[in-house]
Amino acid sequence: MKINPDFPVGNAAGWCKSVAEVEALAKSAAGFIIVGSITMNQRDGNPGNTFNGDPVFTLNSLGLPNPGIEKLEEIGPEMVRIAHEAGKPIIVSIAGFFAEEFGELAARVQRIGFDGVEVNLGCPNVADGGKRKPIISYRKQLVEDSLSAVFNYTGGWFISVKVSPMDPDRIEEIASVIAEFPVDAVVTQNTVPNCLDFNSDGTPVIQTPDKLGYAGGSGKQIFQQALGQVQQWRKVLPEGIAVWGVGGVQSGEDVERMLWAGASVVQIGTAYFVGGAKVFGDIAMQYIGFTDN
Ligand SMILES: Cc1cc2nc3c(=O)[nH]c(=O)nc-3n(C[C@H](O)[C@H](O)[C@H](O)COP(=O)(O)O)c2cc1C
Repeated sequence: MKINPDFPVGNAAGWCKSVAEVEALAKSAAGFIIVGSITMNQRDGNPGNTFNGDPVFTLNSLGLPNPGIEKLEEIGPEMVRIAHEAGKPIIVSIAGFFAEEFGELAARVQRIGFDGVEVNLGCPNVADGGKRKPIISYRKQLVEDSLSAVFNYTGGWFISVKVSPMDPDRIEEIASVIAEFPVDAVVTQNTVPNCLDFNSDGTPVIQTPDKLGYAGGSGKQIFQQALGQVQQWRKVLPEGIAVWGVGGVQSGEDVERMLWAGASVVQIGTAYFVGGAKVFGDIAMQYIGFTDN
């Protein structure tokens, strides 16, 4: 899969789930497109106020709203056509609720004709029966089971793994599991789990199904943490596995800093979710200006 080396920047998973959104990204300066995360079944996401829309102190508990894999099989070929006509790779982020689902989702995405899959092992906002599901990327066995399923069902194309921010010991432990598989890239980081804020009346800003108000933190507030994660992952992974940097990137200079930390590709989430696909043009101009100096 070839990503434009002059501006190796595209969107992060979370917002692009329709043909219209793929069209907007295809027309933008984004160097690649990520669709999803997509789950086995269609999901409405969590009810109530699940996104504060603040690009600096961003909180969300969307709960993976998406059309599901069956719908993707219907609209996916059109998405692939649009992206390829614009000369851009297009990848699908998948989120399974148990290991075998990751395998089946990956295989079905590959059959549609997408260029790669991003295995999302870091979603902190999904509840089942009122209880939060564990974050897979923190648990060695769950990481191993999920990747075994992916590689049982698929291979021979681009496969990346997206993880949550974690402490240094756990980075080493999880990296050693990931390195057992022919993974192309680790994408770090997903949102910071269990962030919390209150409205002036004392109610949580984000309404979550379990009423605790915990949300994934993203945006400017996590940029330095994300740089630290990228550099640590780069140090412990074998050279053959790339690190893709994501978290708080909102300017051309931020892109350059991610590359300095060791990322080879950069993703932009919140800035795109809040500002739309035109942010890629703005950031590309700043990046070129910054690297020309
Ligand atoms: C509203 C929202 C929805 C998101 N949905 C997903 C998702 O479906 N899959 C995923 O892997 N990450 C998801 N993320 C995480 C982002 O892709 C990204 O990893 C994180 O927000 C950090 O990057 P940023 O600061 O540029 O947003 C979501 C983030 C936000 C804010």
